[in-house]
Formats: sequence, structure tokens, C-alpha cells
Amino acid sequence: MGNRDMFDFLKNKDNERTTLTIPLLPLRDVVVFPHMIVPLFVGREKSIAALESAMKSEKGIFMVAQKSAQKDEPTENDIYKVGAIGVIIQLLRLPDGTVKVLVEGKKRGIIKEYIPNEDFFMVSVEEIQDLDDKNQIKSEALIRNIRESFETYAKLSKKVHMEMVNTIASIDSSSKLADVVASHISLKLEEKQKLLEIFNVNDRLEAVYELMLGEIEIMEVEEKIKRRVKKQMEKTQKDYYLNEQMRAIQKEMGEKDEFRNEIAELEKRLKQKKLSEEAYKKVKHEIKKLQMMAPMSAEATVVRNYIDWLLDMPWSDKTENKHSLKESETILEEDHYGLKQVKERILEYLAVQSLVKKNKGPILCFVGPPGVGKTSVAKSVARATNRKFVRLSLGGVRDEAEIRGHRRTYIGALPGKIIQLVKKAGSNNPVFCLDEVDKLSSDFRGDPSAALLEVLDPEQNNAFNDNYLEVDYDLSDVMFITTANILQTIPAALQDRMEVIRLAGYTEPEKLSIAKKFLVGKEMEANGLTKDNIFFTDGALLAIIRQYTREAGVRNLEREIASICRKVAKKIATNGTNNHIRINSKAIPKYLGVPKFRHGEIEGRDEIGLCIGLAWTEVGGELLAIESSLMKGTGKMVMTGKLGDVMQESVQAALTYVRARAEKFGLDLNFYKETDVHVHVPEGAIPKDGPSAGIAVATSIASAFMKKTVRGDLAMTGEITLRGRILPIGGLKEKLLAAHRGNIKTVIIPKDNEKDLADVPANVLKALDIVFVEHMDEVLKVALGLDLKEREEFDEEASIHIPSIPVSGAVRPLENCSVKERQSYLLLDNNKYSC
Ligand SMILES: Nc1ncnc2c1ncn2[C@@H]1O[C@H](COP(=O)(O)OP(=O)(O)OP(=O)(O)O)[C@@H](O)[C@H]1O
Ligand SMILES: [Mg+2]
Repeated sequence: MGNRDMFDFLKNKDNERTTLTIPLLPLRDVVVFPHMIVPLFVGREKSIAALESAMKSEKGIFMVAQKSAQKDEPTENDIYKVGAIGVIIQLLRLPDGTVKVLVEGKKRGIIKEYIPNEDFFMVSVEEIQDLDDKNQIKSEALIRNIRESFETYAKLSKKVHMEMVNTIASIDSSSKLADVVASHISLKLEEKQKLLEIFNVNDRLEAVYELMLGEIEIMEVEEKIKRRVKKQMEKTQKDYYLNEQMRAIQKEMGEKDEFRNEIAELEKRLKQKKLSEEAYKKVKHEIKKLQMMAPMSAEATVVRNYIDWLLDMPWSDKTENKHSLKESETILEEDHYGLKQVKERILEYLAVQSLVKKNKGPILCFVGPPGVGKTSVAKSVARATNRKFVRLSLGGVRDEAEIRGHRRTYIGALPGKIIQLVKKAGSNNPVFCLDEVDKLSSDFRGDPSAALLEVLDPEQNNAFNDNYLEVDYDLSDVMFITTANILQTIPAALQDRMEVIRLAGYTEPEKLSIAKKFLVGKEMEANGLTKDNIFFTDGALLAIIRQYTREAGVRNLEREIASICRKVAKKIATNGTNNHIRINSKAIPKYLGVPKFRHGEIEGRDEIGLCIGLAWTEVGGELLAIESSLMKGTGKMVMTGKLGDVMQESVQAALTYVRARAEKFGLDLNFYKETDVHVHVPEGAIPKDGPSAGIAVATSIASAFMKKTVRGDLAMTGEITLRGRILPIGGLKEKLLAAHRGNIKTVIIPKDNEKDLADVPANVLKALDIVFVEHMDEVLKVALGLDLKEREEFDEEASIHIPSIPVSGAVRPLENCSVKERQSYLLLDNNKYSC
């Protein structure tokens, strides 16, 4: 600044004390230090007058703080004595009359006296020189300390610009340093004033340092407090957040109320339902457990399901049988045609039950070929006794757990099928049809038949234990009915608990009646047809039975009738409902295509070496053609057609018999030596076994050797011994039905089977010419028209020596055989013939 020279009056000349007479500017709340440039706003008239006066002379002014800022009109006593002698650098008059002035402190000064003046304070001021300390080391130490602390202070305070730190570092004069620092730290007015009044530089440095440290400490504590408060704030905020979240969770759990309601609901259900005592306790216990659980947890769901199962089971609900025995009979008659014996047996069973009032009787087991009405009779029994009906198909069930359920510990565990179906029935005394027990199988997962044993044993089933249910369930009021195609594969222990009722299959007239009375009506209804729309003639139904089905039951017959009904329904739907369609035998191929079977095919084919045997299969009886052929060779025997061991032995026995009787047959004794015999039984792909084709094979071989034809309208069955005796066979009824179906005229059967004819329908017996035989010679007589000598002449001992071949033991009907014997017969394949 160029005009600085004007202030030369302030220069210290030879340390002489200078006294000045200059205007005084009283300051509110601020202490101006030397070396400090301060902007000031001046409003008071007196102050403005002082400034104006200063401006007129050399711009010198003395700035002193007021002791109290509040005083607008301070007197001499209100003003400190020590201040800063300064100069005005700039003065600006503002439009509102106030003045903004920039002043610079130059030196310390002390008021000597006030010079009387009307307009402002005029004072005589003595300039104060700094008192330099001799202790340079202390001074230096203080300077360093101050510089260091100032940096800390600047950092902490944030009000001091960091540039100031550099400025401070570059100040050499210790006095100036003390003043600059003092002006920059925030101190109370009194403290600042005190600093201004310390003239010894070292003392001032020390005081500044002390104050600054005090400030620093305060600021550090402040900082600490701030941090703590912030932390506290954060914690409070966290707490708030958590609380909010908790509230949200609780809201979710407002389902808690729902849960409470649910528990109350379960308790109510428990009160209303009559459970077994064990089950009651269990449910009570489980509800208690449930209460302790989180409502939405997986365990709670498991427990809930379990309680539901227990509460849903029909523990004491049962249906009353309102029907008298007579009414039951009527219902059975309504549902099924024929089956006289079956119905009779069922009625007996019901009669006993109504007397003993408890279901302790044996389990009924309906055995017979497919489609004979086993399942539907079981259903009819339910109707006749006013019970619910449930059915469990055991075909392919190989896991015990399917019967008995899984333990609750398994994920997704459920009770077994028995309990599931009883629940479905909704009463504890349904008719429970265990369908196809013969198809039950077992593997590594356990033996389901073992579980069934418990179910079917009247001594045990009042406390049936399901793995899932855990508590015992009383099955003793359930009426179990089982069905099977064959008995052989049913485990012996199971068979032991059952009373077998056989449904052998229907004759042609029976089928016709069933079709007329039941199947046609049923299918018409199912397809939306009425009597006005469609009519089947007897001829048509017979044609379907003969040419489109070959079965023991009526399932295919039903299917074919359904097929015709569907086609008629389509026709009527397109052509209008007033169409009446009459189905006669000629119309059948139009609906069902070319006939599948040639009725009467067997008839009339008298051939050499071809004899018709009768087989028993699990799907009913069958006709079995047995062919023998001779060719040049070395006396070998060939057998084809998948013959089982027993049947092969039977063929051997038949050949031996023929050879043994060669002489009687008028054959050369060595007739077989250059001849090979081939016995074949079509259909080649179906396995066949059993000894009962013996006489048919022998007839076929004898016919081939003697070149005599066998009657084509003849069929036969019977086991043969090496000496030509004929042993009885099993499955006679089915075999005779098959013969009847196949249009056979004459049937040869063992004399010992005569008693079995009681089971055979009268019309079959009437249609067939049945010949009873005891010896093979009698068979050949009928079949080949051979007239052999009387049997008595045949000396059994003296006949050619033939090593005896064990063919088979005494033959009894299958169901009379021991299990072991039966197993050697095992007919695992549906299409296996037992001859
Ligand atoms: N005597 C009958 N009177 C009336 N309908 C019958 C008679 N026999 C069988 N049916 C009918 O034949 C159909 C087949 O019967 P069902 O299903 O009971 O045979 P199934 O013996 O159980 O055969 P599968 O061994 O194949 O189970 C049913 O629609 C049934 O109503
Ligand atoms: Mg069935």
C-alpha cells in the first residue's frame, strides 16, 4: 500500500514512548490485535463521527473493546484501557447510513486520558512496546509448541482455514505469532482482552498456548461427545428399525390369533368326535405339541396333518343294515344274472353274521377268470348290506408300506391304503374289496402279504397298526372280500384265512341272458340311448358272443356291445333322435368288422394224428389241439410247443403206453425203431404244463401210428399211466364250458371226475355227450373206432419191460393239493395252460 508511509508516526523511534491523540472507536464483542485486518460495521453516530474525523486527518484510530457489548452509549468506564492503534484502510458508506470500514491493527496502545469532545471520544494514547524476553529457548519452545498445536486446532475446529497453518509457520516474530494465533482461536472477549494486555511476549505466547490447549481439549471432548452421540443415535436408530421389524413380524403373526383359533377348532372337533381312547389321548397330546410350535413351521404342518388324519378317521361311524335277508337276496338278484351258488353262499354268510352280530367269519375270496363278475358281485354285496364300498387293487403292490403306511418321520408320509380307504369310506364297516390278491408280489421293500395277514385275521384286526397312524384301528367290522384269477399264487397263509368261492365262467345261454338283461341296458344308458333308438336281436348277441369273443366272462362282450352302442349314438346324433336301429346278426360285421373267431371251427375235422385236449387256464378252459407226426428216423421223440416238465413226462408216458400196446394195436413190434415221433401242441408260443393232456397225446400218437383218423367233434382230458389207466384231473367245469363253447359234441373224461359234474351247468351237460373212462383202451375205442380186446386180458406184469418213469403222483383237483405241489404247478403266466 502506497499510503502506508503516512503512518510513519507510528514507527518506533529509538524505543521512545510515543503518545498519540486520535479518535476512539469502541468495539462490541471484538478485540482487534496488531497485525490484524478486520472489517467492521459501524452504526452508532458517535463511532461514525470518530471515523469521519480520523479520515479527515491521518486515518489513525484507536480501537478498544467495550466491556459489555450491550451498552449503546458507553462511557469511559465501560471501555477497556488497552486497545489497538490502527489505520483505516477503506471506508464505505452504505445506503442505510451505516458504514463499513476495513481497519488494520498496528500497535498496542493504552488510553492515557480522554480529551473532551462533543461528537465522539478523542483520546490520548500511549503506544506500548513489546517486552521481549531474554529466554530465547523458552520462546523457541513455545513457538514450536504453538505451531504444532495450531495445526491440531485448525484440524479440529474446522473454522480455521488450513492455509492459516502455513501462514503461521512462516511468521518469524514471536510477538506477531502470538497475536495472529490469538486472533484466530475462538476465545471469550475477556480472554482476548487479557491476551492483548500481556506485553511480555513470552508470557503472551504461553498464555496463548495455554488457551489454545484448553480449546483443543474442549474440542476433543466435543468431538468425543459428538461421536458418542452419533453412536447413540445409530443405536437408537437400529433399535427403532428392529422394533419396526418386530412389529411387522408380529403383524405376520397376527396369524397368531388365527393359530389360536385353529387350535380351538381342533379341540372342538376332538370334543365332538368319538375316538378310541388311545386316539383321543394321542390327539390331545399332539395338539399340546402343536401349540408350542411356530405356526408356519414345517413340523407344525406335519403335526397338523397327523391330527387331521386322526380326527377324520371313522372311529365309530357305521352304516346300519336295514335290509332283511330277503331284501338282500333281491338286491343280489337285481345286480347279477345266474351265479346261483355264489349268491347262495353270500346269503348264508350274511345270515350267520346277522345272528352272531360280529364279523368273525372267514374272508370270502372270489376266484375265477376275468370278467365273470367278481368285483361287481363284491360291489353288489355292499349294496345288499347297506355298506359303503371301497376297492384296493393289489396288482403289483410290492411294498409293505403301501398297506401299512410310512412312519411319520418320513417326509410326506401317509397312512397305508387300508387306512386311506377306510377314511374314504367314511364308515368303519364298509365292504372292502381286496382285488387281485393273486397278483400281490414282494421284494426287498417287504412282503405286503404279511401286512395283509394281519388285516384279514379276525383275531388280530381289531387292533390294526398302521405305521403312520401309530394308534390301533379296529378293522373288525370291515367286511373284506378278496378276488383272484387263480389260487395258486396266493400265499398259503393268506389262503388259509379265506373261504374260496369259485366263479367258473358262463355258458353261451348264460352270456346271452346277461347281455339281454344287464349289459345291453347298461351300455344303452351309458351312451344316452333308449329302447326307441336301438334293439339287439338274440341272433345279434349270439353272433357277438360266438364270433367276436372267446372268453369265460363277459367283459369283451360288454365292450363289443358298448362299441355298437357308441356307433349307433353317433348315427343318431347326426341323423335325429327318431331313428330306430335294429341290430341283427347280419348287421354286426358292419359295426364290429370281420369276425375275430370262427365259430365251430373244430367241428368236422377228422384227421390222423390230431386230437383235441382240454386245458385249464386262469382265464377259463381252452381247447388244445395236439398233433403227432411220424417220419423216418431212429426211434427219437421230439416235443415242441413249450411243454413243461410235467407235460413232457406225460407225453413220454403216452408213447410208452402205445409201444407197450403195439401188439394189441396190430402194429409190428419194432414199428418205432425206424420212426421218429414229433408231438406238437399249438399255439407254440404259450407255455403249457400239467399231466391232464395224457390221454389226448396217447390218442394222437396211436392215431398217427395206426393211420386212423380221430373224431373232430371229440375232446378229451385225463392223465394216463404207463399201463393205460386213467387218473382224474382238475378244472373239469371250465374244461367242459370250453368244449361247449368250441362246439364239441363228445367229451371223454376220467371216471373219477364224475362227481365234479354237479358243478357243471345243466345245459352244458345236456349239449355234451360225456363219456367216462377208466382205461386208455376205452378212449381209443371212442376216438379211433378201434375195437380192442377186453382189458382183463392185458397182463400188466407180463407186458414188455419198461423202466418206470415217474410221471406224477395221484392227481387231485388243484385246490386239494398241498402248497408245495401247487407251486410245482405254478402258472405265473396268464397265458399258461395246465392240461
Ligand atoms: N352274472 C352277471 N350278471 C350281470 N353282469 C355281469 C355278470 N357277470 C359279470 N358281469 C358284468 O361284467 C363286467 C365285468 O365284471 P367284473 O369287473 O366284476 O369282472 P371280474 O371278475 O372282477 O374280472 P377281473 O378278474 O378281470 O377283475 C361287469 O360290468 C359286470 O357287471
Ligand atoms: Mg375285478
